[in-house]
This record gives sequence, structure tokens and C-alpha cells, in this order.
Amino acid sequence: MSTPSIKAVIPAAGLGTRFLPATKAMPKEMLPVVDKPAIQYVVEEAVAAGIDDVLVIIGRNKNALANHFDRVTELEHTLEQKGDLTKLERVMEASSLADVHFVRQGDPKGLGHAVLRAQKHVGDETFAVLLGDDLIDARDPLLTRMIEVSHGQSATVVALMEVDPSQIHLYGCADVEPTADPDVVRINALVEKPSADEAPSNLAIIGRYVLKPEIFDVLERTEPGKGGEIQLTDALQQLAGDEQLAGPVLGVVFGGRRYDTGDRLDYLKSSIQLALDRDDLGPALGAWIKELAETL
Ligand code: UTP
Repeated sequence: MSTPSIKAVIPAAGLGTRFLPATKAMPKEMLPVVDKPAIQYVVEEAVAAGIDDVLVIIGRNKNALANHFDRVTELEHTLEQKGDLTKLERVMEASSLADVHFVRQGDPKGLGHAVLRAQKHVGDETFAVLLGDDLIDARDPLLTRMIEVSHGQSATVVALMEVDPSQIHLYGCADVEPTADPDVVRINALVEKPSADEAPSNLAIIGRYVLKPEIFDVLERTEPGKGGEIQLTDALQQLAGDEQLAGPVLGVVFGGRRYDTGDRLDYLKSSIQLALDRDDLGPALGAWIKELAETL
């Protein structure tokens, strides 16, 4: 089934405190995962889902992000003169992927507040939100499925993944019931970062959303929640509690490969996992890891 083309929004204005001091002068979305900044994987994922218009919500360190998606003619010229066409292609990749726009968040008042900044660009259309913390393997096309479900059922769609109950306090968590589609659930309620006792399930919201424009009105009315921030989860909870507002809120339960780059340990694991999968790095890295493991 063909899906309609929509815009993507990538919030990248968080303070990234877990990665300080690496994120003192650049957003965490620019941290390299193997040899590309995390955000480039995310833009590539959006493009693979048929999206060609991407809005990045930027914070105080906007330059690194804007430069990454811009042409660097001097560098391109030097590589061209050297005849290094492989590197030239790599450098030009980011600037030719999609139409990438930027808007400032101002104060980092939370993910919900960042998404609200997209209202003017997105207009009265359904749109996708992708967080740079979660990298989804290109071989497991989650976003395409979410857009299809949203379009087919005129629904708001959130990506969910089963996590160990001991980890649920790190995520938004969904209270769900099954639907006729095995990978789709109806969301009755959402709670931001519940304790294991309070959690209605072990289904965690991961960083992919397909939202309807009605979310903007709800976000405008959403008071600061956990951490004093305007939480996207709280706005989605309001939609889930009142279907009259914007139709159902559904979850696509993802069983594919996800790389969590949100904290330091998971970031290291993600980088190693993705490098192991690469033909140019995997064999040598794998051999070294085996050697290293023997010394531990
Ligand atoms: P996080 O809470 O994971 O990001 O927000 P953070 O605050 O940057 O990270 P830590 O916890 O201090 O290390 C999830 C996503 O929402 C964006 C972040 O950039 C990240 O992609 N975000 C968060 C904003 O764009 N603006 C905000 O005000 C908050």
C-alpha cells in the first residue's frame, strides 16, 4: 500500500546533560556513531520512508547541525582535485539527502515544547517525529509501517517496544489493548517514566511518532509535567483519553533492531554493534573484541 508523503520533525534542542562535556559545544544528535553523526542515520531513515522535507528543532549549539547538512564547497573541491571520489560522495551525502530546515526552540522547555515549534512548518498535516536518541536499523522499516497505520486508520501512532520491567522508569509507558493487527495495539493511557510498580505494562515508547496536527492545540494547553518540562507523552495521554479530539492513539509494537544512543553505555554498545555489521570494519573489530574478551 502506498503511503502519503509527510514531513519529518527532529527535535535536537535538548541539553544532552548525560553526555557532558562532549555536548557542551555541540548537540548530542551530532555525536558520531561509527563515522556518521546520529542525526544523519535518522534523516536517512526518514528519507527511506518516503520523506523529503525535514525540520530540525535546534537549541543553543545550532551551527554544527546546520553545517552538517550544508555544502562545504572548499572540502568538496579539495577531494575532487585529489580524485578521492569515495570521500567526496560521503561528504556530499548529508547535503543531498532531503530538504533540511531549522527552527530554534528558544528555551529547552521539553520535548512537547520542541514539537510545538514545528507548527508553522508542518501546518494542518500529519507529520512524523523522530528522536536522535533511538536509531532504528534500516533493515527493519518501522516508520513506513507507522505511516501506513496512521493513514489507514486516521490515527496518531506511537512506536512501542517491550523492555525489561526494571527499565520502564526510563521511558514513557503505554496501557494497551490488542487490535486485529498483531503488531498494532490501541493505547488507552500513557504515563511518563513510571516506577516499575506504577507501570501499566512493559511497553515503552521509543522515539518515533506519527502525529496529527490536532496535537498542537493539545500541546498549547499542556502544563509542564515531569522534570518541569512540557512532555509530549502528557499531550498524547490527553488524546488517548478522548478520542473526540483527534481519533484513536495506536501503538506499533516494534520487534526489530533498535540502537539506544541516549546514554553513555548504550551509546558505546550501539557504536560497536553497528561497526560489527559493517563489511569494512566488522571483521577486524570482531577479531579484536574476541582477543580483548580473553584478557578480561
Ligand atoms: P532527552 O530528555 O533525552 O534529551 O530528550 P536531553 O534533555 O537532551 O538529554 P539529557 O537527559 O540531558 O542527557 C529527548 C529528545 O528531545 C529533544 C532532545 O534533543 C532529544 O532528542 N529535546 C528535549 C528538545 O529538542 N528540546 C527539549 O527541550 C528537550
